[in-house]
Amino acid sequence: MRNQPCWCGSGKKWKRCHYPQASPGNDATALQKQYLKQYGIILKTEEQIDKIRAASRLSAQILRTLCETAQVGVTTNQLNTLAIDLHKKAKAVPAPLGYGDPPYTKAICTSLNEVVCHGIPDDRPLQEGDIMNIDVSAILDGYFGDCSAMVMLGTVDPEHKRLVETTRECLNQSIEILKPHVLIKEIGATIERHATRFGYSVVNQFVGHGTGLAFHEPPNIPHHLNSCSIPLAPGMIFTIEPMINLGKRGAVIDADDHWTARTADGKVSAQWEHTVLITETGHEILTLI
Ligand code: MF3
Ligand code: CO
Repeated sequence: MRNQPCWCGSGKKWKRCHYPQASPGNDATALQKQYLKQYGIILKTEEQIDKIRAASRLSAQILRTLCETAQVGVTTNQLNTLAIDLHKKAKAVPAPLGYGDPPYTKAICTSLNEVVCHGIPDDRPLQEGDIMNIDVSAILDGYFGDCSAMVMLGTVDPEHKRLVETTRECLNQSIEILKPHVLIKEIGATIERHATRFGYSVVNQFVGHGTGLAFHEPPNIPHHLNSCSIPLAPGMIFTIEPMINLGKRGAVIDADDHWTARTADGKVSAQWEHTVLITETGHEILTLI
C-alpha cells in the first residue's frame, strides 16, 4: 500500500505524501517508544486524538444519515451516491474508494443478509425483511474514522432480528471492558462468550484494527477466542467490528469481485463497528454523534 497513490489525490505515492510519521519524535514518551518498537503500535498524541475524533465523528454522522435513508425500494448505489456527496460536503474523502487490490470501487460497504462484510453497492432495491450492514470510513484532514451499523428493512424474521441485536450487544460488552492493561484477547473472549450463548458463530477471517493515522494500523483485534497478550495502553485507537453468523463461522470471498465475503452456509450474518480510544482511566467511543 505504501507505493500506491496517496488517498489525497496529489498523485504522489502514499509513502511520499500523507504516510503517517511513525518514528516517535524526541518528545515521545517511553511508552510510545516501547509500543512502536515491540508491537508496531502508534500510541496517539493529544493533537492526533483531536483530529481522529473529528474524522470519527464525521464517519458516525454520515453513517447515521445513510441508515435513515436506507428504506425499502432504495438501492445501495443510491446510498453510495449520497455517501460520496456527504463526504464531499464535509471536505472529507471516503477511505474505501480505490482501496486495496483490486481497488474497491465504491465509497461505502453495504453487506446484505448472507454477506459477512465488504458488500459492494449495486442497483438491487432494498426489500422488506432485509438486514444490512453499512460501513463508513471517512478521511478528514488526513485522519481516519471507521464505523458500521445494521439496518433492518420493514418486518424482519425474528431470528434475524435477534442476531442483529445480539451482535450489537457483543460489540457493546467488549467495549465496556476496555481500559489500560486489559489484554487484547479479552475482547474476543467477551464477544465469543456472548455470541455462543445463542448458538451463533464468530467470524475469524476478518478482524478489527488499529486506525487513525492510516486506515489499517497494527494491532489486529480478533473477535473470536484468541491468545493475543498485548495490553491496552492510553493513546491506542482501534476498531472493534464483530461479524457474527447465524450458522457456521466460515466466510467465502466472491471469486469475481474479490471483495464480497458471504457465509459458506448461506445463512445471515450481522456486524456492528466502533472506533475506540483507550484513555488513562478507561475508554472513549470516538464514533458516536
Ligand atoms: N471497516 C471495514 C474495514 O476496516 C471497512 C472496509 S472498506 C473496504 O476493513 F474498502 F476495505 F472494503
Ligand atoms: Co474497520
